[in-house]
Amino acid sequence: MANPITTIDAGTATDIAPKTPSEVESPSVPRRHLFDMDDLTAAEITDLLDSAEGMREITTRDIRKTPALRGKTIITMFFENSTRTRVSFEQAGKILGADVINITASASSVSKGESLLNTVKTLQAMQIDALVVRHPHSGAPYFISNHTDASVVNAGDGTHAHPTQSLLDLFTVRNHVGDIAGKKIAIVGDVLYSRVARSDIMAFQKMGAEVVVSCPNTLLPDEWQLGSTLDASTGFGGLKLARNVDEAVDGVDVVMALRIQQERQEAGHLPNLREYSDRWGINTKRMALANDDALLMHPGPMNEGVEISSEVAHGVQSVVEEQVQNGVAVRMAVLYTLCAPGKSVRVGGVDEG
Ligand code: CP
Repeated sequence: MANPITTIDAGTATDIAPKTPSEVESPSVPRRHLFDMDDLTAAEITDLLDSAEGMREITTRDIRKTPALRGKTIITMFFENSTRTRVSFEQAGKILGADVINITASASSVSKGESLLNTVKTLQAMQIDALVVRHPHSGAPYFISNHTDASVVNAGDGTHAHPTQSLLDLFTVRNHVGDIAGKKIAIVGDVLYSRVARSDIMAFQKMGAEVVVSCPNTLLPDEWQLGSTLDASTGFGGLKLARNVDEAVDGVDVVMALRIQQERQEAGHLPNLREYSDRWGINTKRMALANDDALLMHPGPMNEGVEISSEVAHGVQSVVEEQVQNGVAVRMAVLYTLCAPGKSVRVGGVDEG
């Protein structure tokens, strides 16, 4: 795929758009964009999850349609492949009555060399209301938001963030356990390259859960040390780094396996996938170390037989399909909140007038 960014080089989100404390902490200001979980306060997250409850009710109706976003135009712009996120955003927008247009890099003028900047300016000229973006460069959604009046929703940027995945993960856990505060969550796998890991650690910690991660040293950020607990200066204060997977999953309420992101990894991170599976894979034996009613999660797509065994992936503790299902309701809540600011969002429905 042609590199769609010609106006910025790869950079971190922090390089591109440092946040002020007021941007992070002021829930009274309606959000225009969703970039990462650190955009949201715990109260805003709770509101979004409550809203998703109402949206879920709409998705169970015989006629799954409401005019809540009638007249709005939403563009999904995916510069990386996706099944779950792209389809669920499209479905979410359509159920809410919006016009949804899907763009991929290969089927757009990006393939002819058009820059990200000019792509966004072109779409902006067509008066769009929301741009849902997946991009291989961390920080691309921040860049885009500087060049459009539309709401920008991050659907996964590089190794940085995947906030709607985190919201649906929180929603799925909350539906099973009630209050997330005090629950123990183990996240196992490719922490270094996983935007889901970063956003989920932040999200579950923000909601009061105790999070422990475990992975090979080669898939851990440089400054992190297995066997330690991170301090606040890392942005993940209180995060435990277990020495091995058995220690990580011991007595937890949720086990989340992460996909090995071979497309982002450099050579030499893993000896081979069989050894990885033996040492770090989630299987029946390891699930038995978690609480009896522990949930098994995976953001998908799964590499069955690598980070997760087929037996547990499709076993009674697995909520992987629920995660996918909940993605639609959660993304409806996000689109509605950003595109119809000020309208009431309540459990049991939306303002459909
Ligand atoms: N979890 C997730 O982002 O899956 P897709 O890549 O299929 O969207």
